[in-house]
Parts: sequence; structure tokens; C-alpha cells
Amino acid sequence: MKKTANNSLKGKTALVTGATRGIGLAIANALVDAGAQVIITGRDAAKLRAAGKRLSTRGAAFSVDIRDAQEVKTLFRDVKKRFGHLDFLINNAGIAHANLTVEKMPFDVWRSVVATNLDGLFLVTHHALPLMDRGGVIVNNLSRAAVQPFLGMSAYNSTKAGALMFTNSLRMEVRKQGIRVTALMPGAIETDIWEQFWADAPRDKMLSPAEVASAVLHVLTMPAGATIEQLQIGPASGDL
Ligand SMILES: NC(=O)c1ccc[n+]([C@@H]2O[C@H](COP(=O)([O-])OP(=O)(O)OC[C@H]3O[C@@H](n4cnc5c(N)ncnc54)[C@H](OP(=O)(O)O)[C@@H]3O)[C@@H](O)[C@H]2O)c1
Repeated sequence: MKKTANNSLKGKTALVTGATRGIGLAIANALVDAGAQVIITGRDAAKLRAAGKRLSTRGAAFSVDIRDAQEVKTLFRDVKKRFGHLDFLINNAGIAHANLTVEKMPFDVWRSVVATNLDGLFLVTHHALPLMDRGGVIVNNLSRAAVQPFLGMSAYNSTKAGALMFTNSLRMEVRKQGIRVTALMPGAIETDIWEQFWADAPRDKMLSPAEVASAVLHVLTMPAGATIEQLQIGPASGDL
């Protein structure tokens, strides 16, 4: 069925990190369908090009590793030059890791998860804030793991719990500026991330990325006087 633009976000500019696939791509597509001007980021050049084709001439796709402070700084210098400001920031990029006990987990694995899920979240938010103003919304895609640990996933759980406290701290800071901040905490969603720790997980019991994207759209279209501070979303049939 052909989708029609509903224009609920016409005139708005949004940046979505990690939009080459999975949830980020679905969010970017939903924002485009809602009439927003969308900027996407990711590292995979081919996927970024493919995702960028949906953005029309009003959007842009940038290759950025969110762990790299200089790359993130350059991204926002370019975004400022080309777009001037941002209405919405969707901090979505993130990684998991192989299912490993703390005893067996190599330090490099721990560090790469922290670098992506915490350093990257900080860097992107730090550089995006000067471009945001009253009415702006930041959605941080965390996970149920922020409040409920998954066995063998200590680095993922720890970074998502830390990201929740970062999100809650940020909300207090930017309230006065009229910027709202949401912690999105989904359950299982059918994406590539499962290949990292549970390749044969039952996909039919998961949410689709499009379902999560519709929840994000709901957050972004709330009346300006209300903040959805935390949003937990899972499959209607119950989580895995
Ligand atoms: N799937 C689930 O069940 C689930 C549930 C709750 C929360 N989440 C969260 O949702 C977010 C998206 O996950 P997903 O399931 O859609 O995973 P995914 O399909 O693996 O996609 C992850 C995205 O993040 C990007 N990314 C990863 N590391 C990056 C880096 N260093 N720099 C820039 N981009 C980077 C990837 O792009 P490139 O590879 O192109 O860099 C990709 O676009 C994550 O934060 C995840 O923790 C997922």
C-alpha cells in the first residue's frame, strides 16, 4: 500500500543517529512520511546511500562514527551550516555484544559498548544542543535493559542504565529552555542487533521497527506542554 505524507511534522528538522538500518531507519522513514526534513547518520556507506534516497533533496545523510569526538564535531558544524537548527534529535545508534559473563568479557568489548552507547550519546547530544531551542525534543533510544538486566549482557545493561540517568539529568537541565527529553525503552524489536548475542531468538515474538517508529512519532507530536518522560513499549503478546 502506498504511504501518504500526513504532514504532522512539516517544517520540522530532525536528526536520527544510526539510521542505516533497524529502528533508526524506520524512525527516519516515518519522519519523512510525516513531512519532516530528516538528517541521518551511520557508518555503513552503502546502506547510508540507500537510506538517503528516501530523504528527498531536503534531507541529508552523513557518515559519522559517534565514538569519534572530531567526527561528531564536524557533523554538527556541517548541520549548522546547512540547516541552521534542529527541532528533534533521535539518539538511536547503539550496539550490543556477544553474550558473555563478566569474567569472560574482553576489556575491548566492554570499552566499545561504553564508547558507543555512552560516549557517543554524550558527544552527539553535546554538539546538538546549541542548535536546539524551545519546542525541541530529544528522544534517547535506550532499552528495557536500562531498568531490567539481561543475563550475559553486563556491558549493554550498564550502558543503557547509565544512559537512562544521563537522559533524566539532561531533562532537568534543558527544561527551562523548553526542550523536552524522552527515554524510549523498548522490549525486543526485530533487527540485526540480535545477531550479536542471540541469533536464533524468536523473531515472531518481537515488535517491528515501524511499530517503535510510530511510538516516536507520538512523542514528537505531543502538545508542547506535555513531556513523555519515559516510554516503555513491547509486543502486545508479552516480551520474550
Ligand atoms: N532491537 C532491539 O530489540 C532493541 C530493543 C531496545 C533497544 N534497542 C536499541 O535501539 C537502537 C538501535 O538498535 P537496532 O536494533 O536498530 O540495531 P541495528 O539494526 O544493529 O542498528 C544499529 C544502528 O546503529 C548504528 N551504529 C552503531 N554503532 C555506531 C557508531 N559507532 N557510529 C555510528 N552509528 C553506529 C548502525 O549503523 P552503522 O552500522 O552504519 O554504523 C545502525 O544504523 C540501539 O541503541 C539499541 O540498543 C534495540
